[in-house]
This record gives sequence, C-alpha cells and structure tokens, in this order.
Amino acid sequence: MNIMLLGAPGAGKGTQAARIVEEFGLVHLSTGDILRKAVADGTPLGVEAKRHMDAGGLVPDEVVIGLVQERITQPDALEKGVLFDGFPRTIPQAEALGAALAESGLKLDAVISIEVDPEAIVARITARRQCRGCGRIFNVATDGDLTVCTECGGEVYQRDDDTEATVRKRLDAYEAQTSKLIPYYAEHGTLHTVDGNQSPADVYTAIAGILRTVG
Ligand code: AP5
Ligand code: MG
Repeated sequence: MNIMLLGAPGAGKGTQAARIVEEFGLVHLSTGDILRKAVADGTPLGVEAKRHMDAGGLVPDEVVIGLVQERITQPDALEKGVLFDGFPRTIPQAEALGAALAESGLKLDAVISIEVDPEAIVARITARRQCRGCGRIFNVATDGDLTVCTECGGEVYQRDDDTEATVRKRLDAYEAQTSKLIPYYAEHGTLHTVDGNQSPADVYTAIAGILRTVG
C-alpha cells in the first residue's frame, strides 16, 4: 500500500512515520529528509533547496517531483509500498504523484491528516532535536537536551529551520498551499483525520487502526 501523512510543521509526521514503517514495512519517503541530506552534502540541489528551506518557503514543485519520481520507481518502493511524509505539499505535486503512481498501476491508498492545535506547534518545533546519524526525533520537553543519540550514539542537532521566526513562515506556507490538499483528498475519497494533540502513542494507535483497514 501507498500512504501519505499530511500535517502542518510539527504535527508529528516524522515521529509517526518511524513507528509506521516498523510495523507495516513501508519505505519511508520524507522529502524534507532527502533535501536536508542534499544540503549536508553540499550538492547543487542542496544549495538551491537551502535558500527556500531557511526562508520557511517551499522548494519548487519541479525539483521535489523529480526527486520523488526517481525514488518511487526503485524496486524496494514498488515491492513494499511507500509512506510519503511531507509530500505532496501542493496541488501540482498531488497531481504529479497520482500520475506517477498510476504509471506503475498504483494509487495512494490512504491520506492521513494529523491535526494539531496551532498554538502547540511553535513550542514543539523549537524544542525538537534530531539525530544526524539515524534520524531519530527527540524533544527537549520529554527527552532532555541531548547531544548524543540514545539509539545510535550519533550527534543530536537542531534543524536550521527550527527557529520561531522560520516556523511561523512554514506555518504560513502550510496554510496557503498544503492545507488545500485536505479538501482535495476528501474529494478523491482517501482522506482520514487523526487528532494529533494526543500522546504520540495514542496518535499511533489511531493511525495503525486506519491502516489495518486499508492494507
Ligand atoms: P519537512 O522536513 O517535511 O518539515 P515540516 O513539514 O515542516 O514538518 P516537520 O518535520 O517540522 O514536523 P513533523 O510533522 O515531522 O513533526 P515531528 O514528528 O518531527 O520540510 C522541511 C522543509 O523542506 C520545508 O519547509 C520546505 O522548505 C522543504 N520541503 C520538504 N518537502 C517539500 C515538498 N514536498 N515541497 C516543497 N518543499 C518541501 O515532531 C515535531 C516535534 O514534536 C518533535 O520534537 C516530536 O518529538 C514532538 N512530537 C511529535 N508528536 C508529538 C505528540 N503527539 N505530542 C507531543 N509532542 C510531539
Ligand atoms: Mg518531519
């Protein structure tokens, strides 16, 4: 099956994705993670992407669509199915994804929209920390201010775009562009909504319950 996690910055997409791929064996495709790797590697794509990411805006559709098209045609993605995290984020991206999946005889089987009160988001994101090695996501409020990953011993860092000013711009981009995907997928009949204000474990229980009816 092919599943998408939709939600504002800090809604918990990455946190839930880690749990979902463990149980359901999907390939985790996070466009944010792919772009951050390109930035860290200093590739031309990374240099271009960093400009948009640091400003809290979206990377141009054609760049992101190209990355996704390349990844979803790899054998593991075709065999296991994909969990899309942070893609699509615009209507053109959603249309391109539908067309690309259809070329392989596939479709998006479910879109899970994780909804969180906007007031909670800035606090969550400015307290987020992440491991450079395994990608594990932490939060200062629950895990303390770690510098070394508890899973792999890698360096724990704060994302460049996790400042309060940039988070507010990312939220504006979500409202202006990405939130339009909620009515889009409601119309296409694949939308499920989950309350993301609950604990991570309870959010996961809700999502897994939906996925068991899909898969
Ligand atoms: P991306 O990396 O996708 O960032 P985002 O969408 O802003 O989402 P986040 O990763 O910030 O939040 P999340 O929902 O994953 O939350 P998390 O689980 O970490 O994109 C970054 C940038 O790349 C974009 O701004 C754009 O420039 C570019 N980009 C990416 N994809 C693109 C695309 N398709 N098109 C164009 N541009 C693109 O959780 C956050 C924190 O909250 C953590 O500390 C976590 O521990 C905590 N937390 C999680 N769940 C809970 C809970 N239930 N209760 C309490 N705390 C919780
Ligand atoms: Mg994320």
